[in-house]
Amino acid sequence: MIKKVLVLVSAIAMLVSGLVFTASAQDSPTPEQRAAAAADTRQSVFKLLRFNLIPIAGMAQGAPFNAELAERNARRIASLAPMIPDLLAEDTRGFDIETEALDLIWDNQGDIADKAQALIDAANAFADTASDGDMGATLGAFRSLGGACANCHDTYRVDND
Ligand code: HEC
Repeated sequence: MIKKVLVLVSAIAMLVSGLVFTASAQDSPTPEQRAAAAADTRQSVFKLLRFNLIPIAGMAQGAPFNAELAERNARRIASLAPMIPDLLAEDTRGFDIETEALDLIWDNQGDIADKAQALIDAANAFADTASDGDMGATLGAFRSLGGACANCHDTYRVDND
């Protein structure tokens, strides 16, 4: 019985490690593949930030106001944003990869942390305001939330807007 359980546990462990480590030991990723994967991961989180910001931005542009949705999405942004400094820690300068990240990110990690914190603070302040249900006050807080995204992009992302 115990043996069967152990076999099962080790089968599950192998399955899980297969899910976590997709590349096998024989073909460990090249530095360029690692950099591409790091860029891919950070871009995924930025896409999630955008996904959550879009409905809020829509309300600021005249879509029907929904305080619950505004609060929920802002809290999601506040919980994703602490990942930003970790995601931007891996130095991907000098690789031929798809990225809009500017090289100076890796000379200014302290400022990246500050800008991520500013986003967390703005998102929480927005969510707190939204929880009171006051449309005017909530939409008034949108400027600093959207501004916290733009403030980092202006310095650290390729200028394409
Ligand atoms: C501390 C800096 C910082 C903050 C804060 C920040 N971003 Fe970004 N964002 C970046 C950088 C750097 C890139 C480029 C990443 C890359 O291309 O490798 C980026 C890329 C993006 C992209 C493009 C992703 C893709 O490749 O498809 C979107 C969308 C985006 N950010 C949305 C947001 C939104 C929305 C917020 C605020 C809720 C936000 N970002 C806050 C630094 C930041």
